[in-house]
Amino acid sequence: MFGSIAARYDLANHILSCGFDFYWRKRAAEIVAHWSPNKIVDLATGTGDLAFAITKKSPDAEIVGIDFSEDMLAIARRKGLRKTIVADAMRLPFADASFDCLTVAFGLRNMEDWDAALREMSRVLRTSGHLLILEFSLPRLSILRAVYRFYLHRCLPFLGSFLTRKKTAYHYLGDSIEKFPSDDAMRRLLEANGFCAVSIEPLTGGIVTIFTAER
Ligand SMILES: C[S@@+](CC[C@H](N)C(=O)[O-])C[C@H]1O[C@@H](n2cnc3c(N)ncnc32)[C@H](O)[C@@H]1O
Repeated sequence: MFGSIAARYDLANHILSCGFDFYWRKRAAEIVAHWSPNKIVDLATGTGDLAFAITKKSPDAEIVGIDFSEDMLAIARRKGLRKTIVADAMRLPFADASFDCLTVAFGLRNMEDWDAALREMSRVLRTSGHLLILEFSLPRLSILRAVYRFYLHRCLPFLGSFLTRKKTAYHYLGDSIEKFPSDDAMRRLLEANGFCAVSIEPLTGGIVTIFTAER
């Protein structure tokens, strides 16, 4: 599905988030820079926007972008991402403890088995290495949640279809956000799969959340 919308993915992202996606990735990159990592892997890197934001804030770090969609990676490379590998995040082509930091933006939600995906992330991180997950979530405040749900289920599928010219591409999004574990459930999921020191930072009224943890 991502292959089929690759050419219009960035535009759709910026319009559907009203430009907030720039701020979300910038904030994620600030957190990563604070850890001063040397080797970073960005999973589900797509067209590379998080990897670029991280490179801006951590210019000396080595970063590799992983995605199983060659079409998305082709765009990332065209935009200047130097190291990319076509691979499934569930079976990473790296030895244990290869990285200081692992990031994944709007990717974990789409993976078929969250426990297995997190175990694989933990495997490629060194001990005390850092994990950052940027993911859609639901606002914690009930009035905001109701308004956001209206946008998510009633408006976004039509806007997304129009922008990407793919009828079904954005229909799955609302349901996948509803199913994705929220704060405490996510903390438990991380702790059950090799992570500790979990922290949770909701952004923009809670429509996205940054989860960080240590291996
Ligand atoms: C919503 S896009 C996010 C792209 C980028 N991280 C961003 O912030 O815009 C999700 C990406 O995850 C990739 N993806 C989903 N499951 C994957 C998996 N198991 N292994 C590798 N890539 C995966 C898709 O191909 C797609 O490019």
